[in-house]
Amino acid sequence: MLWALARVELNGGFFTEHCPAHCHLAKVIDPIIKGTLNVLTSCKKASSVKRVVLTSSSSCLRCRADVQQVSPLNESHWSDTEYCKRHNLWYTYAKTIAEKEAWRVAEESGINLVVVIPSFVVGPLLTPQPTSSLRQILTIIKGVRGDYPNVRGGFVHVDDVVDAHILAMEESKASGRLICSSTVAHWSEIIEMLKTKYPIYPYEDKCSSQEGDNNPHSIGSSKILQLGLPALTTLDQMFDDCIKSFQQKGFL
Ligand SMILES: NC(=O)c1ccc[n+]([C@@H]2O[C@H](COP(=O)([O-])OP(=O)(O)OC[C@H]3O[C@@H](n4cnc5c(N)ncnc54)[C@H](OP(=O)(O)O)[C@@H]3O)[C@@H](O)[C@H]2O)c1
Repeated sequence: MLWALARVELNGGFFTEHCPAHCHLAKVIDPIIKGTLNVLTSCKKASSVKRVVLTSSSSCLRCRADVQQVSPLNESHWSDTEYCKRHNLWYTYAKTIAEKEAWRVAEESGINLVVVIPSFVVGPLLTPQPTSSLRQILTIIKGVRGDYPNVRGGFVHVDDVVDAHILAMEESKASGRLICSSTVAHWSEIIEMLKTKYPIYPYEDKCSSQEGDNNPHSIGSSKILQLGLPALTTLDQMFDDCIKSFQQKGFL
């Protein structure tokens, strides 16, 4: 069995809001969509590939005007790409198109595709330098940008995301889309939680003016839990693991 993961950079659109249109295309949209299609096309050529596990994102579910009404979100929900365009949510726009394209290629070519849909990934550093979501957390804790994202979304521990990918690849009953997300919260709530436990850091204290990705909603992970994924780590624990790791490795 061959494991194929489409991993593309620039997670989290909130750092790109001052970027002109051509810059979104070159830095976010093209790499995400073309990167995903390149992996799927290569898998199509390689007859030895039995299953492809693609990493999508919970932002591909929640960015739609009616998100509150249709909650709790499940595997049948999709973000609305027109809504994403109206609100400059380019990462979400690209990830949504990329996942839809992956399903199209898989159906056309008979690839056994399973898609893991994690929310914002939190936990200890697994690499020498913080990668995308951990860089965002560090920036917020250190207060270096001037504001925190006006985003409400799910959060999930990296260990749960790893387990979800192994399950998606190895469990024969796994199929379709699989949401992997613990608690939904706004960044203002995360900052309040962290300030109480770790008051020594400066933290961002102003909310970004970016609109469109702060709508109340909830997300259900029951499909993957029923497949055998253990109970998801709490918000408290995932951020404790993250901060401890930042401290141990000298980033905080
Ligand atoms: N982090 C999250 O909170 C989160 C949440 C939901 C979904 N996801 C999804 O999970 C996947 C991984 O995200 P991540 O946060 O781990 O991202 P990341 O930390 O930014 O890592 C991206 C990885 O992609 C590789 N990469 C970037 N551009 C590439 C290119 N043009 N060609 C080949 N490889 C390239 C990088 O390789 P190098 O190391 O060689 O630079 C890096 O290893 C993405 O699909 C993302 O959308 C992430």
